[in-house]
Amino acid sequence: MARWGPSALALALALLEVALPGAGAQGAALEDPGYDVQDTWSQEPYYARGEPEPEPFSPRLPVGTLEEAQEPHPPAPRPPKKATKARKAPKREKLAPETPPPGKNSNRRGVRTQSPEKAASNEQGVPVAPGDVRAGCPPLGLETLKITDFQLHASTVKRYGLGAHRGRLNIQAGVSENDFYDGAWCAGRNDLHQWIEVDARRLTRFTAVITQGRNSLWLSDWVTSYKVMVSNDSHAWVTVKNGSGDMVFEGNSEKEVPVLNELPVPMVARYLRVNPQSWFQDGSICLRLEVLGCPLPDPNNYYHRRNEMTTTDDLDFRHHSYKEMRQLMKVVSEMCPNITRIYNIGKSQQGLKLYAVEISDRPGEHEVGEPEFHYMAGAHGNEVLGRELLLLLVQFLCQEYLAGNTRIVRLVEETRIHIVPSLNPDGYEKASEGGSELGGWSLGRWTHDGIDINNNFPDLNSPLWEAEARQSSPRPVPNHHIPVPEWFLSENATVAAETRAVIAWMEKVPFVLGGNLQGGELVVAYPYDMARSPWKTQERTPTPDDHVFRWLAYAYASTHRLMTDARRRVCHTEDFQKEDGTVNGASWHTVAGSLNDFSYLHTNCFELSIYVGCDKFPHESELPEEWENNRESLIVFMEQVHRGIKGLVTDSHGKGIPDAIISVEGINHDVRTASDGDYWRLLNPGEYVVTAKADGFSASTKSCMVGYDMGATRCDFRLGRTNLARIREIMETFGRQPGSLRARQPRLRGRKRRQRG
Ligand SMILES: *[C@@H]1O[C@H](CO)[C@@H](O)[C@H](O)[C@H]1NC(C)=O
Ligand SMILES: *[C@@H]1O[C@H](CO)[C@@H](O)[C@H](O)[C@H]1NC(C)=O
Ligand SMILES: *[C@@H]1O[C@H](CO)[C@@H](O)[C@H](O)[C@H]1NC(C)=O
Ligand SMILES: *[C@@H]1O[C@H](CO)[C@@H](O)[C@H](O)[C@H]1NC(C)=O
Repeated sequence: MARWGPSALALALALLEVALPGAGAQGAALEDPGYDVQDTWSQEPYYARGEPEPEPFSPRLPVGTLEEAQEPHPPAPRPPKKATKARKAPKREKLAPETPPPGKNSNRRGVRTQSPEKAASNEQGVPVAPGDVRAGCPPLGLETLKITDFQLHASTVKRYGLGAHRGRLNIQAGVSENDFYDGAWCAGRNDLHQWIEVDARRLTRFTAVITQGRNSLWLSDWVTSYKVMVSNDSHAWVTVKNGSGDMVFEGNSEKEVPVLNELPVPMVARYLRVNPQSWFQDGSICLRLEVLGCPLPDPNNYYHRRNEMTTTDDLDFRHHSYKEMRQLMKVVSEMCPNITRIYNIGKSQQGLKLYAVEISDRPGEHEVGEPEFHYMAGAHGNEVLGRELLLLLVQFLCQEYLAGNTRIVRLVEETRIHIVPSLNPDGYEKASEGGSELGGWSLGRWTHDGIDINNNFPDLNSPLWEAEARQSSPRPVPNHHIPVPEWFLSENATVAAETRAVIAWMEKVPFVLGGNLQGGELVVAYPYDMARSPWKTQERTPTPDDHVFRWLAYAYASTHRLMTDARRRVCHTEDFQKEDGTVNGASWHTVAGSLNDFSYLHTNCFELSIYVGCDKFPHESELPEEWENNRESLIVFMEQVHRGIKGLVTDSHGKGIPDAIISVEGINHDVRTASDGDYWRLLNPGEYVVTAKADGFSASTKSCMVGYDMGATRCDFRLGRTNLARIREIMETFGRQPGSLRARQPRLRGRKRRQRG
């Protein structure tokens, strides 16, 4: 794997230093007249000068050596609810004197990508104040499913669907709440002897407990207070004390908002129990749970934590605020100026820019014949993993390009890639205030004005299907590039600024393939997202390109480390294994006005939704593993843009014809050429009869073969003028008015206007 080159790294550090506010060494750097990089920045068109002044920016620097420089400026104290995301700095100090593990880059590695749990297990023999450890202890993983069903037990259960295995933070109930998949653990009796237990399977320093009520549309069940006890053998239990008596923690006051309670003193043990003491008066004992704790080194333990893995990529594994995201983009674009460009596609309702990073060997221009691809993420502001994965991808592509990774170099040279990591930055800001554990299931999902971007696009399915139903008319119904309805364009329509920005961008760039990253599930969904029967909530509704979409979805899912793993437990209620980790959107749940349907029916672009994980807002320590889970898929999916046929449609003089229609026999969905007459048509391997037609030209048909190897088959068309068009041209030539007369008319009109005014 390639690394940042030493000089590139030095540059990045210098840049980060400039970004630091204020006095001292950094102040001097800012004033250094020789340091003109800063000037370059402030002249960048994307540099948001007009934005509201954000709070002082003190990024957690990606490399340990800069840590000292930051020390004189400790971060502002955070509210207690952020305890789960507290700084890990104290631990880094502990790690610093440690001898680095052998291997390349070991001087830098292992500091930055160290997750808290690993940090804890490395500090053998080094005494650490309990408070410091508590600050960094991550969730055990009830929400992420790292804690398996076998590690959860309960005193009693109401029924199977409300078993201990359902007592996971943020788990969602099935549509009919009477099935196997319900929204909490519920005890079989309502008395003081009930408990739910987590077996961490190794000695753990437990630091906090987070509870939530039952996810239910109809019922109100939550626990208002509880005791916590711990054990090493699940027989002898020690109750967490408050001075002399048992500590009674204050629990929830409604169903959805998670409540965190820190243990007064961290407890070392293997098992932890939550023992409800009181509950909502009209309800019963039900809760969802997460436990925070640092696993301790335990050489004799034969259980190994599942997926205890590291990544070899040297990337910035953390959550990025809006400002930090912008900063990271700048660092990458300084590092790879030849292949990157940063621009924005518009602004959020609150005026935050929707940044895009373009990666291409000729950034800023469309090259004739080169397909365009995009990734977007964060349409729901609280589904943040996609945002971080895309920021990691941007860094990775830059690094690997510089290192000469042939696969990446080829991808960058042959594709124009656009990456928008945060479509709903307003929502993200809200979600990140809640943080990775305490935001609940929906804080920050919507735009600032309460719109769900994912179904805010015009519904073009209905007009298409209605027209198809009225097939009696002899004129064929257009099966692509369906216009956006008038009402949607009006100022009054309930359309988010973010949605309008995306639509304008998709109309402007001739995208061929796109993926939008979402969260809360682990599956790739392909269109249609809207069920064809209006009265159905679930109905498989394939597009005419179903085979291609299924391939595209499979290309991502099958290369993901978990999506097609048959042993994987379902996130909430749906088992997507029967289709190998993919699903037709409408057969999952119908949505009108989805991005995918709009993209397919209004543009040439094939768009899919990629749900990257059960946990919408994973703890920072999960990011290296999530990157490993998704890295290959993210690249493979981009490579699929080079599947099918592509070519040029030209006139007899070799000039490209824009807006020519490319039809493939047997597939009732056409695409159109871009402004240079170039087109791309995603197709699975096979032989196709393809027709190109354009207004005023005779249509041309040929057979085009798509093979199994990567690389689209070239299929060009040269169209001759139709006789009618030729006659019209000639008539226009002869019928033209004399030049002098044409020139005089506007002048006359101009004079009249002036007289009136
Ligand atoms: C469990 O064992 C560890 C190590 O022997 C010990 O430090 C801890 O106090 C024990 N916890 C309980 C609850 O007995
Ligand atoms: C112990 O708990 C009681 C009530 O639960 C509370 O009022 C008191 O402040 C607690 N004492 C300590 C030392 O935390
Ligand atoms: C960018 O391109 C120029 C000219 O081809 C080359 O000299 C330079 O090394 C490239 N820089 C990077 C970072 O690749
Ligand atoms: C928009 O709403 C205003 C106030 O409700 C109304 O007067 C106006 O006619 C509406 N405009 C359109 C284009 O619908």
